Amino acid sequence: MSIINRGHWNSRLGFVLAASGSAIGLGNIWRFPYTAGTYGGGAWVLMYIFFVLAIGVPVLFAELSIGRASRASPVTAFKKLVPGTWWPMLGALGVLTGFGILSFYAIIAGLTVAYAFFALSGRFGGGLDIAQSGVIFTDLTANPVWMIGVTALFLLLTALVVRKGVGGGIERAATILMPILLIFLLVLVGRALTLPTAGEGLSFMFTPQFDQITFAGTVSALGQALFSLSLGMGAMITYGSYVSKDVNLPLSGFSIVICDLSIAILAGLVIFPAIFLVQAEPTAGPGLIFVVMGGIFDAMPASNLMAFVFYGLLSIAALTSTISLLEVIVAYFVDDRGWRREKAVWIVTGGCFALAIPSALSLGASEAFTQFGDGRGFLGWVDVLCGTYFLTIGAMLTSIFVGWKWGVPAALAAIEKGGYRLPAAPLWGSLLRYICPLAILILLIYGATQGANW
Ligand code: TRP
Repeated sequence: MSIINRGHWNSRLGFVLAASGSAIGLGNIWRFPYTAGTYGGGAWVLMYIFFVLAIGVPVLFAELSIGRASRASPVTAFKKLVPGTWWPMLGALGVLTGFGILSFYAIIAGLTVAYAFFALSGRFGGGLDIAQSGVIFTDLTANPVWMIGVTALFLLLTALVVRKGVGGGIERAATILMPILLIFLLVLVGRALTLPTAGEGLSFMFTPQFDQITFAGTVSALGQALFSLSLGMGAMITYGSYVSKDVNLPLSGFSIVICDLSIAILAGLVIFPAIFLVQAEPTAGPGLIFVVMGGIFDAMPASNLMAFVFYGLLSIAALTSTISLLEVIVAYFVDDRGWRREKAVWIVTGGCFALAIPSALSLGASEAFTQFGDGRGFLGWVDVLCGTYFLTIGAMLTSIFVGWKWGVPAALAAIEKGGYRLPAAPLWGSLLRYICPLAILILLIYGATQGANW
């Protein structure tokens, strides 16, 4: 793949894997289980799956079509498709959103690296209980030097890749490592489903308790559907801009959705049984997977090796996602502002690091940032604002753009280039024109007027 030199994906598989690499990440394995846990399990999971299909799929094709037709990154894409309008502002919102997401995502990604390192030094296994894994987590997150250090390390890794070009190395690495992640996850699922608490975990994850549905939960399920598919901020516009005309875009798009959704569900199948095994609270928040996964590793032979492989693969999955986040922001400064790539990479990474510091201290290291804004914490706020609300607004405006401004026929032509038909194209058009904008608008207005309880 060449994100740097405008070019083509080498193959459909290359495109599907790179886009899946962006989609699959901490969103599936870290954010999905803890958010599902926070909002009560089954009913939230159902809403999430529903939003993936009813809103995620249409918006994914909308973004890919904008990218393919304009062959440009978001701001430039809107300038090309509808010159002289304010629509490029939507691209700019995406750049801002990506910046915010990258700032907290890099912290959690940094934690996965720290955990891989802990595994190497043999800290898992040997009957580690929930209290001890809790201490490992709180010791780490209360330590400002570690927190800022691992965040800096991860941002640096991301910057080095984006600066060098995403081609060659990382694409090839992702092509090999993503399938390994899948296989390893299946091994963990096998272990999790044979635990005594498998039934409890599954019933928490899949039995909907509809009285648990809240406004905040509904919006977060929608936000998670978009977040997990990397939608709502132009990443898929950028990726779509490198798709050559002989690629079967309809098939590729559905493959991305199926890969992403499957990884989230598989992660849930591992983590929910583990939660009940170690008797943790599903509502534990962002620390959830770090605290409960120890239980699974402990129940397996070679626990430290298992933990190392898991956190190592998770770090790589996170890296293929941070690359896509940084690339969208950098592409804006390069394409639209005419900056040199090198300059754009370092300035954006530096700015992101500055914004990441209060978040990195907000998981326990600094009382003020941890308690920030009614106890949600600084990271929690950046996450809910950028990762839920801005993405949601971005997705709504993207559907309005394709559905009402640019037009469904033009978008469809871009998707079907090469003669590959989009199944149920009329349904796609109506979802984009009516359902996506209205559903999102209603949720947002309801939130604004009813007191959102974010
Ligand atoms: N989708 C990724 C995940 O689930 C995160 C991500 C990468 C992202 N690029 C994005 C989220 C763009 C929103 C927008 O981990």
